[in-house]
Amino acid sequence: MTEQDKQPNAAHSGTFKLGGELSVNRLGFGAMRITGDGVWGEPNDVSGALETLRRLPELGVNFIDTADSYGPTVSEELIRQALHPYDQVIVATKGGLTRTGPNVWPPCGRPEYLIQQAHLSRRRLGVEQIDLWQLHRIDKAVPADEQFGAIRTLLDDGVIRFAGLSEVSVEDIEAARKVFPVATVQNLYNLVNRKSEAVLDYCARENIGFMPWFPLASGSLARDGSVLSDVARRLNASPSQVALAWILRRSPVMLPIPGTSKVKHLEENVAAADLHLSDEDFQALDAVGQAEWAKTSAPES
Ligand SMILES: NC(=O)c1ccc[n+]([C@@H]2O[C@H](COP(=O)([O-])OP(=O)(O)OC[C@H]3O[C@@H](n4cnc5c(N)ncnc54)[C@H](OP(=O)(O)O)[C@@H]3O)[C@@H](O)[C@H]2O)c1
Repeated sequence: MTEQDKQPNAAHSGTFKLGGELSVNRLGFGAMRITGDGVWGEPNDVSGALETLRRLPELGVNFIDTADSYGPTVSEELIRQALHPYDQVIVATKGGLTRTGPNVWPPCGRPEYLIQQAHLSRRRLGVEQIDLWQLHRIDKAVPADEQFGAIRTLLDDGVIRFAGLSEVSVEDIEAARKVFPVATVQNLYNLVNRKSEAVLDYCARENIGFMPWFPLASGSLARDGSVLSDVARRLNASPSQVALAWILRRSPVMLPIPGTSKVKHLEENVAAADLHLSDEDFQALDAVGQAEWAKTSAPES
């Protein structure tokens, strides 16, 4: 067995074809964490962030999620610095949120703004065409059809190859599909947050890629002492690996994009592609997650 064979490899998570055409390894990477506090400015450790990005292709990770608003612009710029010309790596980005300070994300869905931002992302990433561009939020202040129409224009003009949505309902997806083919949906989802189960099931039926954000519940599922710890100990795995193995098994359209700024955490997360849960463990974890979700989502009485 060579050193290469012994490494974690995201290819072991299986593949999914974006838009039925563009194959990616299912276990991807979220590039929001390679920025400063509040997703604002440069990361504290720029060389660590670049090292993390450069490690991705070596670990078989060929699907990266970013956004114009991460930094803003910092995440896209570092991705280009580390990985351009992107040999076999697909970089998906998003637009539709403005930044007015750390942790502040006012939406802007005006068509001319969305079109401008996709053009700017294309330039920053240094590509002829963005493989996957996602509307970060549907802006309630702008008619949804105008926002979908802007996406149609971007597709027709070849600025983007495939398009997706983020934080949407089944009704939103159906309305968008009247205007353009929806290749992916990116909603908050993890073992202990099930608000998007209906959207996930819809995506599975329609073969739309589902990119769960916060797959590690923003890191809380990766900590010792999380609801996954017992199973993790028994399987000789880390809690983050169990969380990712569970989410990968939940559906064949699932494309998790765990975020980290550290090579060590990246390697640990990618090794989840080799962790196969038994039916019993999958169901036991599912029950634990459902119970947690019932507790946290119950209306206050
Ligand atoms: N569409 C949207 O509205 C939306 C919103 C939020 C995020 N996203 C996307 O989804 C991606 C994932 O979300 P996320 O990054 O916020 O949350 P996440 O993947 O659930 O968790 C990331 C956090 O977990 C920690 N972590 C990762 N691996 C770990 C490990 N093995 N052990 C211990 N800690 C670990 C990271 O810290 P370290 O850096 O210290 O490893 C980071 O603080 C983002 O990067 C972004 O691309 C989309």
